[in-house]
Amino acid sequence: MAANTTVISQSQLQEQFAFCDKIQSFWHQAARTPTAYVETYGCQQNEADSQTLRGLLIQCGYTMQQSAEGADVVIMNTCAIREHAEQRVFGNLGALTHTKRRHPEQKIFLCGCMAGQDAVCQRIRKSYPHVDGVFNTQHLWRFPELLYLALTTKKRQFFTLDTPDPIAEGLPMHRDNPLKAWVSIMYGCNNFCTYCIVPYVRGRERSRRPEHILAECRELLAKGCKEITLLGQNVNSYGKDLAEKIDFSDLLAQIAQLDGEFLIRFMTSHPRDAGKKLFDTMAEYPKIAKQLHLPFQSGSSRVLKAMNRHYDREKYLEAVRYAKSKMPELVLTSDVIVGFPGETEEDFQETLSLIREVRYDSLFTFIFSPRPGTPAASMEDPTPAQEKNRRFDQLCALQNSISEELHRNYIGKTLPCLVDGQEGSLLTARTEGGRLVRFPGSSNWIGRYMPITITGATTWSLTGSVKE
Ligand code: SAH
Ligand code: SF4
Ligand code: F3S
Repeated sequence: MAANTTVISQSQLQEQFAFCDKIQSFWHQAARTPTAYVETYGCQQNEADSQTLRGLLIQCGYTMQQSAEGADVVIMNTCAIREHAEQRVFGNLGALTHTKRRHPEQKIFLCGCMAGQDAVCQRIRKSYPHVDGVFNTQHLWRFPELLYLALTTKKRQFFTLDTPDPIAEGLPMHRDNPLKAWVSIMYGCNNFCTYCIVPYVRGRERSRRPEHILAECRELLAKGCKEITLLGQNVNSYGKDLAEKIDFSDLLAQIAQLDGEFLIRFMTSHPRDAGKKLFDTMAEYPKIAKQLHLPFQSGSSRVLKAMNRHYDREKYLEAVRYAKSKMPELVLTSDVIVGFPGETEEDFQETLSLIREVRYDSLFTFIFSPRPGTPAASMEDPTPAQEKNRRFDQLCALQNSISEELHRNYIGKTLPCLVDGQEGSLLTARTEGGRLVRFPGSSNWIGRYMPITITGATTWSLTGSVKE
């Protein structure tokens, strides 16, 4: 384990569980069962953190509810990736003054990636007095202590100081869907892409030990889980900080050899370290879904350099070509940023041509948002917002037409899909590549892999039926 990683000890963990017990007694004396609501604003890692917070709240005796109204505890688990995400949080935080007025004992907390920014913490201290506590992701494991102090001292709690980036094993998690689970394999990021806030708010890269990850996967499978998604900001650098020699492909192969009928997905792969070994491993094991989320961000090598991405257009395309040659059925998705500072029309055209060449099944598209403290926020950016919007619309139109075409190619095929839920009168399922299928059927199929014949397609999803 690298010198900057702190592993939370058993006694530190037991101390937190003792706070859970004290909170339970607190509510026992008040003679009622308290309620809590956790709102998630960010990515899958943010959601995985929310599941841990729900696990801890349940251990403290709370019952989870679906809204802030009347809840004894409200936690806003925030995202700082774009300005818009932060504005939404501040807006919703303001609105909580009303719910608190109706329920003055309500405790409101803010955590997640926004809590990793000093300016945000200062703003909360000054302008949001109804917020009872703030904690950053590095302090998440200390939530029972923070909650106990907030309940018993009535003082506002700020657990936001820099800490050596910790790993806490053994925290309870509350997962809603027994069929699908997110498993964090690592935390933080070392890449410092020039536009991105994540390394500043989530700390340095640190990998969980493989035996902990495997034990968690085994436990999930024993409980009937059918789909495990491994999470990290850059899963391909898994293991670099561990003493033993293990990389992400080795970890994937070990999980793929566990018993049971299930699929493994993972995100996010950084193209910088996505090499042949990864694609060979994906191709070798049937339990690894033939789905790859490989963000390219820009099709222009010049812009990629300014983004500090450590690959160029050609290297990216080479990786995609190799992956497709190994897995012809591969479903590819990606992230792209339009309007990075200094992006010219020519750079933008290169992004469009890369999209045409790769033909993604779907894309997550973003307009550049300057994040205070990142290098890109102070780069010269002469392109007017209107022009960025025009590029964005043009890119989305191109991608939509590709998604629609690719989806149309599914029609007539019969694919094994995990039936994962119900929407009105229809069931929902996912193909191995992660595409959403709606189809009529019996709710006792939920949790099973069924052969679904695709009968219709739109830009976003497929429709199908099961031949009986
Ligand atoms: N670790 C992942 C992505 C995490 S953030 C990776 O490296 O691929 C998810 C996506 O948000 C990024 O891929 C990027 O496309 C987008 N994003 C990040 N910072 C942004 C910013 N400042 N403005 C606009 N989009 C941004
Ligand atoms: Fe952000 Fe880059 Fe790290 Fe992804 S790899 S989280 S985009 S710094
Ligand atoms: Fe995720 Fe947003 Fe943080 S995308 S890592 S929750 S900044």
